[in-house]
Amino acid sequence: MENGNTEEVIKQFDRIALLQDRWDHNQRYQQYLLKNIPRYCTCILDVGCGTGELTKRLIPYAHEIIGIDVSENMLREAQRRNGHEKIRYIKIPVETYLQETDKKFDVIISIAALHHMHEENILKIMKAKLRGHGKILIVDLVKSERVMEWFLSILAALVNPIIRLLMDGRITVTKEEKEAWAGHFQYDTYVTLREVQRIVKASLGAAAIRRHFFWRYSIVYTHGE
Ligand SMILES: C[S@@+](CC[C@H](N)C(=O)[O-])C[C@H]1O[C@@H](n2cnc3c(N)ncnc32)[C@H](O)[C@@H]1O
Repeated sequence: MENGNTEEVIKQFDRIALLQDRWDHNQRYQQYLLKNIPRYCTCILDVGCGTGELTKRLIPYAHEIIGIDVSENMLREAQRRNGHEKIRYIKIPVETYLQETDKKFDVIISIAALHHMHEENILKIMKAKLRGHGKILIVDLVKSERVMEWFLSILAALVNPIIRLLMDGRITVTKEEKEAWAGHFQYDTYVTLREVQRIVKASLGAAAIRRHFFWRYSIVYTHGE
């Protein structure tokens, strides 16, 4: 099955949206992206905003925040759990939204959603929608490739229960969470760090790319630098 924004993937996210928001590895790296956001932005776009956990944290940084997603349930929960007068949640695929809007953004941010898109194409389109000195800030999942990465990955799996216990007061996830994610993980595919480097070079040129401990990579790109 395709990893993109297909009916099956949307259905999976509609189900995942109904789970309670809890600490996870995506949340772990929100702060890493937030510290790269300049104050007093006019408009920030959160791509694949889910239930709006990150979107809400953008409120102090901008006059207007737009969260887009393809899952109806995600957006309903985003409005309910993380609604705010500064935030507008819109149900639309990012590919369509960026093609249709005449807005330009100070920051385009996204966590754990890029692997559902054609990374190189969407990064090129995002770049074209930035204001001068605008930023693209991405965290997404990475596929281990080199020996050192596999080693890190195993270490992360060993440390994971301790971190979960500290952050969320529990070691394992519930049966309901396991079942909701199982179908999704069956098809989810990720790129390797080497592929990320190639994609970024082809779409953005220069950007800071980093591999993080818990199976994630990040891209920090500043337009015009
Ligand atoms: C794993 S969730 C991450 C949600 C949120 N960013 C977070 O960190 O909790 C990925 C989200 O991307 C959305 N998504 C996938 N493909 C998309 C697309 N083409 N356009 C907009 N949203 C998309 C999904 O519906 C899902 O809510």
